[in-house]
Amino acid sequence: MGIKFRALLLASVLVAYYIYTPIPENVKEDRWKLMFLSALFRSVGHLATVAEKLGFAHYMDVMMLITRIDYTPPVSYEKVIVTDTKFNDVPVRLYIPKGQPDSLKRAMIYLHGGGWCLGGKGMKTYDFLSRWTSEKLNAVVVSVDYRLAPKYHFPVQFEDVYAVAKYFLQNSVLDQYNVDSSRVCVSGDSAGGNLAAAVAQQLLHDPEVKVKLKIQVLIYPALQTLDMDLPSYRDNENKPILPKSLMVRFWSEYFTNDTSLKAAMETNQHVPVEWSGLFKFVNWSNWLPEEFKKGHIYTSPSHGSSKVGKKYPGLLDPRAAPLLADNTKLQGLPLTYVITCQHDVLRDDGIMYVSRLREAGVPVVHKHVEDAVHGALTFIMSPFNLSVGQRMANNYIEWLNENL
Ligand SMILES: *[C@@H]1O[C@H](CO)[C@@H](O)[C@H](O)[C@H]1NC(C)=O
Ligand SMILES: *[C@@H]1O[C@H](CO)[C@@H](O)[C@H](O)[C@H]1NC(C)=O
Ligand SMILES: *[C@@H]1O[C@H](CO)[C@@H](O)[C@H](O)[C@H]1NC(C)=O
Repeated sequence: MGIKFRALLLASVLVAYYIYTPIPENVKEDRWKLMFLSALFRSVGHLATVAEKLGFAHYMDVMMLITRIDYTPPVSYEKVIVTDTKFNDVPVRLYIPKGQPDSLKRAMIYLHGGGWCLGGKGMKTYDFLSRWTSEKLNAVVVSVDYRLAPKYHFPVQFEDVYAVAKYFLQNSVLDQYNVDSSRVCVSGDSAGGNLAAAVAQQLLHDPEVKVKLKIQVLIYPALQTLDMDLPSYRDNENKPILPKSLMVRFWSEYFTNDTSLKAAMETNQHVPVEWSGLFKFVNWSNWLPEEFKKGHIYTSPSHGSSKVGKKYPGLLDPRAAPLLADNTKLQGLPLTYVITCQHDVLRDDGIMYVSRLREAGVPVVHKHVEDAVHGALTFIMSPFNLSVGQRMANNYIEWLNENL
């Protein structure tokens, strides 16, 4: 073996070690593909860290490359008319099915994921999901491009989405698109699931909005800011696609550019003692079914010596953390479909919300996927398609077809 070859071999082993993430054992399908996807995301993450340390760019500006590379313009085809427009000054991509033009249609407001920092309506994967939804459900889909961190912080993301919802839910607007006002839903994944839950809560108590949502769909949503040490955070700290460090960074970027919030959240030291009363809403000892507590012992959360949390009251605003809404704010929410994944730091956020909604008398269908990682449902486009993602997407559309 030549010296060059050996050097190359060593370099490859180092690179492989550097980007390697173990794939959970019960994931039986597409293991190599998942490993590759995970390596890709981790490499971009490392590149972003280096660029930020050297002062070239903000971490999220580098991460945003994934969104930019994946951009596709609006393109209509024989089944769906696709256009970019604005609702209440917020950019949206509209999908209008061409079939049966005179019949009333169903509708969905879709909110993409990406940690309030990344993603967009024009990402191929979201564009694909929206046209597929529109086609399969014969539904008008409104995919929202809300403004992102780090340039914009909470509540801008929420307010953009809410402005679109309020505009679209007017009877005059629904009539214009031939939408049946009793068959409208909101849906979103990850940070979009967070926004969907927040929008559904706010709409319920908004006297200006007469049209009610029929359904909310929350796909592995982020729902709480208080406890970054839930069993799911512990179990999945370094699982593919969304490690704990990235989720914590997303949360802190949602509120501020100040990196001391991230540091405090990472060690779960961000909650000042004055906010103790809210821990009951995220008490996993009460809200998680036994099977998800396995191997973990509940200890009451510690309070931060750090004062940083107090500077960001948004942390306890239910528009940012829907799980912190009290029971009266949950009562009357529409039929809810929640998807959670076993290998996901956000798993317990979703499961605790299911428990809280049920206690408040809200009808909930909970789909827990044992062999999925965070983000699985967005991997449905070849060559980055995972069969578990396709399965989840099929279930989701079938369920909506029966219930919306
Ligand atoms: C936060 O950082 C971003 C990106 O560097 C910048 O555009 C934004 O103005 C900053 N926000 C604040 C409040 O400093
Ligand atoms: C959480 O729930 C457990 C069990 O019900 C209880 O003992 C504990 O005091 C609760 N902690 C908080 C902070 O609500
Ligand atoms: C991915 O999509 C291609 C093309 O549609 C298909 O042939 C393949 O079976 C899919 N793979 C998985 C794992 O779903």
